Parts: sequence; structure tokens; C-alpha cells
Amino acid sequence: MIRIGMLTSGGDCQSLNATMRGVAKALYRMMNDVEIVGFEDGYKGLIHADYRIMKPEDFSGILTKGGTILGTSRQPFKLMRVPDENGLDKVEAMKHTYRKLKLECLVVLGGNGSQKTANLLWEEGLNVVSLPKTIDNDLWGTDVTFGFQSAINVASNAIDCIHTTAASHGRVFIVEVMGHKVGWLTLYAGIAGGADIILLPEIPYDLNVVIDALKTRSKNGKKFSILAVAEGAISKEDALLTKKELKEKKKNGPVYPSVAYAIGAQITERTGQEVRVTVPGHMQRGGQPCAYDRVLSTRLGAEAAMLIKNKEYGYMAAVKNNEIVKTPLAEVAGKLKTVDPASSIIMEAKMTGISFGDE
Ligand code: F6P
Repeated sequence: MIRIGMLTSGGDCQSLNATMRGVAKALYRMMNDVEIVGFEDGYKGLIHADYRIMKPEDFSGILTKGGTILGTSRQPFKLMRVPDENGLDKVEAMKHTYRKLKLECLVVLGGNGSQKTANLLWEEGLNVVSLPKTIDNDLWGTDVTFGFQSAINVASNAIDCIHTTAASHGRVFIVEVMGHKVGWLTLYAGIAGGADIILLPEIPYDLNVVIDALKTRSKNGKKFSILAVAEGAISKEDALLTKKELKEKKKNGPVYPSVAYAIGAQITERTGQEVRVTVPGHMQRGGQPCAYDRVLSTRLGAEAAMLIKNKEYGYMAAVKNNEIVKTPLAEVAGKLKTVDPASSIIMEAKMTGISFGDE
């Protein structure tokens, strides 16, 4: 019998179950006598040997189900080598569980940090195949991650809803979209939702430019404006500060729940305009996967099963130019795929009048 371990790690997203289903269905069809062991709550389950033997039925009826049937948790990569409160060496514990269960391979569905740990385990001698999960779409080595499109739908829906109320009241609205380090989700949701101003971590904004854009809209007879602002949006002046200086500045300044509220307060102070903030938050990771993600997850899952069948380990199933490919984990680990401010999508958005607050 061949035993395959499986876990979902890090922040959840809509298409985790669809992806596990894709892997499992293809594995059960392609390999005789295969058993899938599901680890509870991500790497935590692997560390503490908390697992259950999955049955083919466990993977039925979950294509459209959000969340993860295995549960997930955040186990920061930087702490992987740091013994826990009981002195447990997490990496050794994971290797021990893997060997005790006589696994042939470990399948990891995860984002950036989880891919780093997957690569570490591969370097430590375990057979690993991974899949690219995250609503942030910031994984290196794949054009797109599963979860991203579903999250765009939720976030753009939020902007759609804000549109009608913003128009009725003639208000400025800020919708804060998830993404601390990268702005893919804000960019796509902002364009799809018809936002007038989009602020991304990759394009530091100048508040004067943002205010000018708002004034121009008012002058042109537009009664309302919508800003799509990433969690990690940053001003030009703050972008010049070191992490320590920024922390200090925030400590000494007014306290806001998040960046959208800070920008909202500054707009009101400078223009006298009424500003409302909406934070869809974790809704963006919840609910059903969209049709695009279901297809993507099924394709990626099948590729992962194929890699296992061929004993090709140390890879992440990925997408390149709409083809499903395999990317070495060593290439994925530790890199971030960010929005290029000079990319065509930014230029096209600017051509249609969207301001990124930079010029
Ligand atoms: O990485 C996915 C993500 O949803 C980010 O967009 C967001 O900044 C973060 O996770 C939120 O993390 P948590 O669920 O731990 O609050």
C-alpha cells in the first residue's frame, strides 16, 4: 500500500477542498492501493501526529465547499527551527511522523510561508509535492494561485454594493481589500468593481495626488468616489522610512484600526468631505469557490497526482501561460510575486482614468 500525507496550511481560501478533491480523485484512479492520510490543522498535525485516514467518500461532495475539511493553522516558517515551549524540535517531529507513518510523499496546499516549509522538508529528505494556495496571488513560480479569483469576486462584489450607496449619498467610500505585502487582489477587485482610485503596496501614494483625483471627479460632476485600498497601502513618505522608523512614527501618531481609516481621516481633514470605510476582511476568503477556481483546482490536483505517480518530488504544481506545469520548490520558496508598477495592466487601468495616487 502507498500512503500519501496531505495537509492544508496557512490562511484558508475558497478552493482548498476542490484542490484536495482533484488530487485524491486522480490518485485513486491512477494508483492501485493508495491511502491518503489527512493531517489536522496544517503542519501542526504533522508535528504532533494528529491525523486521520481519509476514505474516497471524504473527497466527494466537496468541490463547491469553502474552507478546508482538514482544518488549517499558521505555523510561521521563521519559528520552524525554534523549539516550542516543551523543547520540541518541529522539523524533527515532522520528519518523525512522516517516517512513522511510512509515507511515500507529503502533499502541501499552502501559500508563501507554507511553501518555504515544504521546501525545507524536501531539503531534509522528505518527498514533497505542493499546490499554490492563496487569495493574495503572490506566489512565485505560478501565474495564478487558487483562491485568488474567488476572492476577487467577493471583494469586487463588496465594491459593487458600495457603489449604489455611495451614489445615493454622494460620499467618498474606501473599501479596504486584503493584501499586506502585495496588491494583486486590490488591483483586480478595484478594476472589476469600477474603483476610481486604487492604492497598492507596490505603488506608494501621494495624498496630494489622491485628493486632486477626488477634486477632479467632483469638478466633473461626479457626486461620489470609491477608493480600493490594499491593507498594505503605503504613502510615498512612509515608503522611505525603515521598518523601525515607521513603527516609531505610528506609535507617536493617531491610532487607526487600519490604513483605510487613516487615509479616510486625512481626506476628511483636507477636504471636509464625508468618508466612509468598509472592510470586507475575512469574507474575502470565505464562501464557495468560483467556477474558475474549481477548474483550476481540479487541473492542479490532477497534476500533483501525476507528479506523485511519476515519483517527481520537490515540485509545486503551477500555471504558466494557461498550461499546468511543475515548478521546483527551490524556485518558489522565499520569493514574492508582486505587482509591477510598470506592467501593462497598470498602464491600461491608468488609461481608463483610474488613479493609483502616484502621479
Ligand atoms: O494571506 C492571506 C491573507 O488573507 C492576507 O491577504 C491577509 O493579510 C492575511 O491573510 C490575514 O491573516 P489572518 O487570517 O491570520 O488574519
